Amino acid sequence: MDKDKYYITTPIYYPSGKWHIGTCYTTIICDALARFKRLDGYDVFFLTGTDEHGQKIQKAAQAAGKSEKEYLDNIVGQLRSLWQVLGISYDKFIRTTDEYHKRAVQKIFTALYEKGDIYKNEYEGWYCVPCESFWTKSQLVDGKCPDCGREVQLTKEESYFFRLSKYQKVIEKLLEDNPTFLMPRSRQNEMINNFIKPGLQDLCVSRTTFDWGVQVPFDTKHVVYVWLDALFNYATALGYMGDDDALFRKYWPADVHMMAKEIIRFHSIIWPAFLTALDLPLPGKVFGHGWIMFGSDKMSKSKGNVVDPFILSDRYGADALRYYILRVVPFGQDGVYSNEMFVKTRNSDLANTLGNLVSRTLAMVNQYFGQVPEPCEDEGTDAELKELNMRLYDKVAALMDEPDVSGAMDAIWEVLHRANKYIDECEPWALAKDESKRTRLSGVLYNLVETIRRVAVLLQAFMPDTAAKILTSLGIKDGELSGFSSLKQWGAMPAGGNVVKGEPLFARLDINKELKELDAIAASVEIKGDVKGADNGEDKRADKAEGVMTVDSINIEDFEKIDLRVGTVVDSKRVEKTDKLLCSQIDLGEGKPRTVVSGIAKYYAPEDIIGKQVIVVANLKPVKLRGILSEGMVLCASDAEGNLTLITPSKGIASGSEVR
Ligand code: MSP
Repeated sequence: MDKDKYYITTPIYYPSGKWHIGTCYTTIICDALARFKRLDGYDVFFLTGTDEHGQKIQKAAQAAGKSEKEYLDNIVGQLRSLWQVLGISYDKFIRTTDEYHKRAVQKIFTALYEKGDIYKNEYEGWYCVPCESFWTKSQLVDGKCPDCGREVQLTKEESYFFRLSKYQKVIEKLLEDNPTFLMPRSRQNEMINNFIKPGLQDLCVSRTTFDWGVQVPFDTKHVVYVWLDALFNYATALGYMGDDDALFRKYWPADVHMMAKEIIRFHSIIWPAFLTALDLPLPGKVFGHGWIMFGSDKMSKSKGNVVDPFILSDRYGADALRYYILRVVPFGQDGVYSNEMFVKTRNSDLANTLGNLVSRTLAMVNQYFGQVPEPCEDEGTDAELKELNMRLYDKVAALMDEPDVSGAMDAIWEVLHRANKYIDECEPWALAKDESKRTRLSGVLYNLVETIRRVAVLLQAFMPDTAAKILTSLGIKDGELSGFSSLKQWGAMPAGGNVVKGEPLFARLDINKELKELDAIAASVEIKGDVKGADNGEDKRADKAEGVMTVDSINIEDFEKIDLRVGTVVDSKRVEKTDKLLCSQIDLGEGKPRTVVSGIAKYYAPEDIIGKQVIVVANLKPVKLRGILSEGMVLCASDAEGNLTLITPSKGIASGSEVR
């Protein structure tokens, strides 16, 4: 049943080395879609990879005292092993440092230049290094990057520009006429109103201030803007502008570009404009899913949220992690991760609903029949269970087309819940006591075995290890009984085979014990870069909040000794005879403001900070500075280049609020 081709991509990942459950989100979603479509007879190509150029990488490599390549190979290796642990079935892994990709990007840049869609000019604008994005002054929010809220740098240099403005109408029409191009739909209005309607401006597509990138072939002091370089991975990976473009001819364009919401601007505006300029067909769909958040515990070290996917999958199984991402986070919206929810869900949905159904059924089959029993005429609620089963494939297939991955998982769990209820209704243990009910008992257990088989066939797309275990217990090897075509009719499971009740699929966990152990692991993990470090953006996304293991760790008790409070600066003055110190009066909700002396006068004038909310270390021993008793310390972030910024709450909150 060969269907069409299906080309699906994840964004290519920045090799940050900070892997967490949020990092896995897009890739696990794509993996489930790719597996589903393969099982459904599509010719699938699933692409992922790494985005390795740009100033940020160059700086990180320098800071680590390594060459870029050395630095990257190690981190990219970690990412690939993460994908292996999680069972990611990609067909190709592209690195933007691959020679074939760099050559192709050079050809693409030249083609756009020769066509007149890239031209040289002078650039003056604001650049956000962490986001690798340029902004005009009017796009900044409070003078900061509108995407991540961090400081931006004023940049002036000779640059090449892409005529994005020329494609204003094309892009506007694309989004307005094609309601399924950018999904979910709410994101479409956001793009149209915030970016397209105000007018698309030409895009700066080369840099001269660093050299870690693809060189512009006809002007070698320029490197290609990372987003142009990165976006074209989707085409070069298939051989576009390369030596062999057979894959490109077969799979282009992408059916789905999957990503989190913060990068849809690049994929739904800039990317189709680039493609139109090259007369290439446009992707079928750009899907911007939500973020995985850590509730209000952005800096999760205080609560001990372990979110290292290696640790989680090692302790609980990769499928438990896949399940959480695929089901618990409502697809398209933001979802919260917490250890507690993770462990509880594993117990309730996996150990109970799925695991118990399988183990109870197989135990009863073995105990009462020793092999898969014969089906019998429908009775009682059989028809309802069968009908739900028979509708399941179509329902899941339609939801995966949208795509609505958590909706598809909901549909599968609905059948599992129904099957558990069916056991309670039919009470096979009672039927077993009455010899005259033997045929009925046989029919009930057959219905359960067939339900489990059907669910396992579908679960191969979502939780491949678990599905394989279930199918093996049912004595099913690869082949017809595990294919989607076996779902067409009820009753493909043959009677008479042996079933094996192996180890429980998901052993029940003692929640409190697990949470304590996870807290203890978290306490031994230090967030890389301290509060004054370089990369502590106030971003709630997991990748910005989580760090990696380093050696000099403190434990949770040490951290809890620090009393951090929100304070409001009610007054501030320069300290006489010094150009470094400000003396501020800070209200911590204690009735009387505290006096705090801080070394920020080079960065802030007194009037800049009056009225601002800041974070104060409230239980620091008072010290005298220039004769003034300072009763606390204000937290700031500073980077290697000497920039300093005060840490402030993202929303106003009562003075004296505890920072946790
Ligand atoms: N390199 C760019 C993409 C270029 S594509 C031409 C990039 N990389 S990333 O490493 O920052 O992000 C990779 C993917 O992970 C993106 O889809 C990103 O949005 C997603 N996520 C990173 N953190 C996430 C969460 N906490 N939650 C959900 N998705 C998250 O952007």
